[in-house]
Parts: sequence; C-alpha cells; structure tokens
Amino acid sequence: MRDVYVIGAGMTPFGELWNKSIREIFVDAAMLAIEDAGVDHIDSLYVGSMSPGLFVGQEHLGPVVADFLGVTPVPATRVESACASGGVSFRQAFLEVASGVSEIVLAGGVEKMTDGADVTEALATAADQEYEVYHGVTFPGLYAMIARAHMHQFGTTRQQLAEVAVKNHRNGMKNPNAQFRSEITNEQVVKSTMVADPLRLLDCSPVSDGGAGVILASADVAKKMKSRAVKVIASTQASDTIALHDRTDLTTLGAVVRAAEKAYAMAGKKPSDVNLAEVHDCFTIAEIVISEDLGFFEKGKGGEAVEKGLTARECGKIPINSSGGLKSKGHPVGATGIAQIIELYEQLTGRGGERQVKKANIGLAQNMGGSGASCVIHILEAI
Ligand code: COA
Repeated sequence: MRDVYVIGAGMTPFGELWNKSIREIFVDAAMLAIEDAGVDHIDSLYVGSMSPGLFVGQEHLGPVVADFLGVTPVPATRVESACASGGVSFRQAFLEVASGVSEIVLAGGVEKMTDGADVTEALATAADQEYEVYHGVTFPGLYAMIARAHMHQFGTTRQQLAEVAVKNHRNGMKNPNAQFRSEITNEQVVKSTMVADPLRLLDCSPVSDGGAGVILASADVAKKMKSRAVKVIASTQASDTIALHDRTDLTTLGAVVRAAEKAYAMAGKKPSDVNLAEVHDCFTIAEIVISEDLGFFEKGKGGEAVEKGLTARECGKIPINSSGGLKSKGHPVGATGIAQIIELYEQLTGRGGERQVKKANIGLAQNMGGSGASCVIHILEAI
C-alpha cells in the first residue's frame, strides 16, 4: 500500500442551514477543501450520507453532488454506514489512493436533517428494526441502557456524564463552525429536560445540517505542498451485533475495541502516543465508554477521568473532542466523521486557532454507527 496524506480540508458551519439545499451544503464544503489543498482537479469523490432519502427525498447522491460541483464524469459514490458514513467515506478514499488507483480523491460527508422529516424515526432505521425499534426504543433509549449498565457496574455518576457535555461545550465555544457555542454548567445538564433516563437534553448531540470535505493525496502530490500535509498512518474498521441484547457486555463497544487494536498495530503506536482524539460523543455516555475502549483509561474509569479534567483541551492527559464534539459542534450524521478528520488536520498543522492543543503530533478519530455496530478509526500524524 502507498502512503496517503490529507492535504486540504473545509467544512460549512453546523446547525440549521435552512437556506441551503443538500447539494449546496456539500459543494460549499468541497470547494473550501479543494481551495485549501490548492489542487486543480480530483480523480474521484466519495460522499458519506446516512439517509438523504429519508431526510430530503434524494437518493443517488454521488452524481447529484458531482454534477453540482462540476466534476462529472469523475467517479462519485455515496457511502452509507449510519452515523459512521463520513468516516467510512474517508476510509474508501484512503484505500483508493493507497491502492494506487487514484492520486487525488475528495472524501466528503453531508446531511440535511432539519427539513421536516421525522428525524428520530429516520435515525432509528440504523438500529435493529425487529428487535429494538418495533418495540419503541430509539437511540436515546439504547444509549440510556448503556449508561445505566455503566453506572451499575462501575459507579459512574450522573455528574460525570454531565462533565462530558460541559467540557465539549467549553471547547465548542472556540469553534466558529459549532452549532452550540455556549457555555453550560453541570447543574444545567442534570436539570435539563429528561429524554431517556438517565440521559437528558444536554447529554444528547443535536439534530443538525452540515457538510465537510477533505482532500487525500499520494506522496508525490503531497510533496509539492509539504507544509500542509498530514500523513494517515492507520485506517481500520470493525462491526458488532446491531442489537444491544446480543452483546455479552453493555459497558464496552466491541467494534471500537477491535478497530482500535488494529489501528494501533497498523500505526505502530500505543494509546499513550496519541496527543488528541476526536470521538463519537453522540451521547455523553458514549464518550466515556469510548475513552476506555480506545485504551486511554482503564475500563470503568472514564467517568472519573473526565471529572478530573484528564480529557480537557488545556491540560488534559489526552484532550478529547477539542472541536466541541458532536455534542456542541453538532451532528449532521453523514458529515461527522469527516469533520473529526478536519479537526485533527487543523490541530496537526497548527491551525487550531483559539482551541489549539499544545502538543499535537498524533491524532485519532473514532466514528461509529448505530449503538456501536460499525466503527471506523483513523490515526493521523504531523510531518
Ligand atoms: N443540545 C443542546 N441544546 C439543544 C439540543 C442539544 N442536543 N437539542 C435541542 N437543543 C435546544 C434547541 O436549540 C432549543 O433551544 P431554544 O428553545 O433556545 O431554541 C431547545 O433545546 C429545544 O429544542 P428542540 O429542537 O425542541 O428539542 P427536541 O426535543 O426536538 O430534540 C433531542 C432534542 C435531544 C431529542 C434531539 O436533539 C435528539 O434526538 N438528539 C439525538 C440525535 C441522535 O440520536 N443522533 C444520532 C446518535 S446515534
């Protein structure tokens, strides 16, 4: 396999983009990425999008965005892996460049969720219909079960869950593209509206519109623009049972553990080598479980770690979600995995602005679909 580099990135603000169509959102992000990379063409493109058919009635999104971007006849493919669609889009682009098939590939992601579709029902199509959704449970309920199990088994507290949201909003305040740029307190989180006990409104990622794009390139292309290239040193993916009841342990996400083991082996790194991570905090409990499953903390200690500030951007042992995460930055599901890569790219090239992490040489992005049934992990290194 050839070496692969990220050489440019761009994203729209996340939030309610009522005056833009899905194709405009994607192309806005793609144009920013292309301009940032300084390339005059792309060989192909991928667009991660979970459910444009349900959200805006548009399937066959690949050629829709390629046409609007003015790049037909390049190959244009939509990638679906629920909320991991963006991460898998990046992985497909990585594999295409690594295999030698293409030199310059655009990996993007987009979702337009606020146009009137029943979002909860649409998102729930990524869970097990027969065994979960038909019985009335949707994603907040599934993650609430994970939270209850973690609280029962390890003593994780309501306050510790809230600390994830407080930290991520603090980071998101410094991100001009974030949906919620407001500080929140622990008390506000624990008193916010109940959604699925123990998870409350401020434990949940929001419903969002948004697009994100990055340009991946071979070493020959990256060499020409060395100052803005970041190397992709691992790209891995794993799957797990789609229904929670089929898992032996609700407090660990098997696909995250397996994808992480493979990623560390591929990169030749250990969890302690990672300087910052963007993880899939669709609900506060998810960040806690993932921080353990990625090997940053011992199983059961993730709640304590966030409470002690070990995941804080300023002085944490391992800054997690310096972008604000899904919680504060927003979660237009298909765009999320690409936005995570963009945060790493900006941090590793020293362009993190007000939220720059001090030592940023190696970054990890973890993106997942459903209640962890798909997981994709990338590790990037500054050069
Ligand atoms: N975080 C912070 N504030 C939020 C928020 C969130 N997640 N969701 C909504 N708000 C704010 C809104 O901006 C609004 O504020 P305003 O009154 O000042 O305008 C207020 O809270 C109420 O918003 P509303 O849109 O009426 O909330 P809702 O009850 O329709 O939706 C959730 C709230 C939590 C149910 C919804 O955001 C949700 O389903 N989130 C999870 C999405 C998800 O499952 N993603 C996939 C993960 S696998």
